[in-house]
Amino acid sequence: MSEYILVTGGAGYIGSHTVIELINNGYKVVVVDNLCNSSYDAIARVEFITKQKVDFFDVDLRDLESLNKVFDKFPIKGVIHFAALKAVGESTKIPLAYYDNNIGGTITLLTAMQKHEVKTIVFSSSATVYGDATRFENMIPIPEHCPNDPTNPYGKTKFMIEHILKDIYGADNQWQTAILRYFNPIGAHPSGLLGEDPLGIPNNLLPYLAQVAIGRREKLSIFGNDYDSHDGTPIRDYIHVVDLAKGHIAALNYLKNLNGGLYREWNLGTGNGSTVFDVYHAFCKAVGKELPYEVVGRRGGDVLNLTANATRANTELKWEAKLTIEDACKDLWKWTTENPFGFNIDNYEWKVFSDDKEDYRNRLHTVKYDNFEVSFANRGAIIQKIVKNGINVVCGFDEPSRYIEKSNPFFGTTVGRVANRIGHSKFELNGKTYTLESNESSNTLHGGLDGYDKQYFFGPVAKQFKKDDKIINTFEFNYVDKDGHNGFPGDVECTIKYTVDDSSVAIEFVGEHLKDSPVEETIINLTNHSYFNISNTKSTDGTVIKAITNKQLEVNDELLPTGKFVPTHTDITKPTTLSADCAFDYCFVVDGNGSGIDTRDSELKQVIEATHPNSNIKFIAETTDPSFQLYTGIGINTPGFEPRSGFCIENARFVDAINHKEWANQVIVKKGQSYGSKVKYSFV
Ligand code: NAD
Ligand code: UFG
Repeated sequence: MSEYILVTGGAGYIGSHTVIELINNGYKVVVVDNLCNSSYDAIARVEFITKQKVDFFDVDLRDLESLNKVFDKFPIKGVIHFAALKAVGESTKIPLAYYDNNIGGTITLLTAMQKHEVKTIVFSSSATVYGDATRFENMIPIPEHCPNDPTNPYGKTKFMIEHILKDIYGADNQWQTAILRYFNPIGAHPSGLLGEDPLGIPNNLLPYLAQVAIGRREKLSIFGNDYDSHDGTPIRDYIHVVDLAKGHIAALNYLKNLNGGLYREWNLGTGNGSTVFDVYHAFCKAVGKELPYEVVGRRGGDVLNLTANATRANTELKWEAKLTIEDACKDLWKWTTENPFGFNIDNYEWKVFSDDKEDYRNRLHTVKYDNFEVSFANRGAIIQKIVKNGINVVCGFDEPSRYIEKSNPFFGTTVGRVANRIGHSKFELNGKTYTLESNESSNTLHGGLDGYDKQYFFGPVAKQFKKDDKIINTFEFNYVDKDGHNGFPGDVECTIKYTVDDSSVAIEFVGEHLKDSPVEETIINLTNHSYFNISNTKSTDGTVIKAITNKQLEVNDELLPTGKFVPTHTDITKPTTLSADCAFDYCFVVDGNGSGIDTRDSELKQVIEATHPNSNIKFIAETTDPSFQLYTGIGINTPGFEPRSGFCIENARFVDAINHKEWANQVIVKKGQSYGSKVKYSFV
């Protein structure tokens, strides 16, 4: 199935969870969202979780021209329409904004749909359209035929949109319209990567309680305990957001199997009511402690009971909520503790890093400390910039197009699937010979013609936490390298995690040979190809280096290892000044025994330090790997830079390990296993 579904409001809370379910069910997704109550980071995380591209447009639904362009560009089969303003209290204060955004936006959307003959829509309605169902007898749990009487402008927008859709169906009964009336969505994605991220003071019960639990709010106010329920607090039908998201797939599938058009409403709820105290206790259990609360007066507009009769959705859509309030509380707590400020991280910002400003595949992500700043980009999961005390200490381009030029000497990039050389572009694994394309005389260098430096990584998942009073930021990128791509066997998921503090950048490299890969073994060797320069000039000449080892892999005329270790021409364990006459491009051996496949648990070993008389910055590189290539940039030949503009410390496994029996175990990764290593660059 390759049908495109347009998701309006897809960066929002329910929208982002639904996009994941759509992708998991084989749909292609286009998201339109003006980010007025959300963040693009949610989309970046959806891509990270699903490892699929999500086309995204920062478009206000009321902008017909831009919306039409999206419809022109994709063969859209149907729409799931989430985009709306949704705060009940706010809607009573600025009703016009609610009518304009929710109804105006819907009319524009329907106009674009009509123009493009897209006649399938799933609409986010709400239990709020029922108003106070307890005013009737026998209407709890609430069935779809319960009379509507919304009590606030927000609810009225939902009510009116339902009527607009009904009238459109009345005029053209080819339309397939599913009205989904949600009860109370709660919880977060079990991955801990997605959840609700309310702006300002949360209105809803669980988001508020979560902020109490992490200390952002003092205590929960319970709005009344004098209702007619088992503990005096109001009753709601709380539904896990993942169950709710799945309800949309059920609705789409239902519409797809119809012969003609339809207009129909379905309640999406669990059918079970819980009181405020029931939810409070479940969340305290997930957190592991009693949270402070105070019972205050009733909140205006609250009703005693909003519990769904979900039978229609259960029987017709063959959908049913499966997760419990306990599941939702657990997932919400994971989301909250791992993202205490939601998607919002104070010292982090990003912008599109492409000549096409709508191309969200490549973004530049910058984290700033007082005297330290680091930027990463998605293409190649590169380090684009590191600025220490106002000095740019790595080579990088400000124009994104420069990275695509042939003369780019791998500036800042992740290198894979196999860093450094594979001799004669050939290797043998499990009795099979693999031949790669050569891109450096007869060898394959740095992964070959379509290596990781040319791939758009998903993410990053940007997070922040405190450790020993230090603010730490992490940025995680991933990319799936499929069997056969670029000549390599096996499906590999490569994850690059950067950890930044106020003076260092650490990298964790992981290459997981996926469980359902078609081959038993593959090879992986990952590194980063940053060119460092602490001289505050265009040349690294005069940099004084000192290394842990003077032992290098001896190489032959083809730059391939002979298998022997030899001392290098200059003893770099002693302070050594780099210059045209003192240059290096050798693999230095930190541990002659090599290593296993995953070195992440080994201690980081300082392998090199560097200083330059022009700056008071000391550069230190530490790694868990058994070797590193020291390359002093003699071959740099790209405008704006010169030979020796930067030096590289490429932590990795021994060069061409796969073609040396005694080293091969450093790079062979069995199905289900992970390759792993770490490096840390400090600027002190
Ligand atoms: P949300 O605010 O997280 O998501 C709504 C998204 O729509 C946001 O990303 C926002 O930026 C976007 N948006 C708003 N106006 C837009 C416009 N004019 N153009 C483009 N994008 C726009 O809210 P949510 O909780 O995910 O709710 C999604 C839908 O479900 C809404 O229609 C809401 O009314 C409905 N709903 C929500 C709840 C609930 O409790 N969360 C309950 C019932 C119904
Ligand atoms: N509550 C508190 N303290 C708080 C917040 C809420 O006691 O700080 C109580 C409320 O009084 C209510 C219950 O928790 O009894 C749930 O309140 P929410 O604000 O979380 O949810 P509502 O039921 O009021 O409304 C939500 C959405 C609406 C949607 C409705 C559908 O906000 O948009 O569910 O059932 F229409």
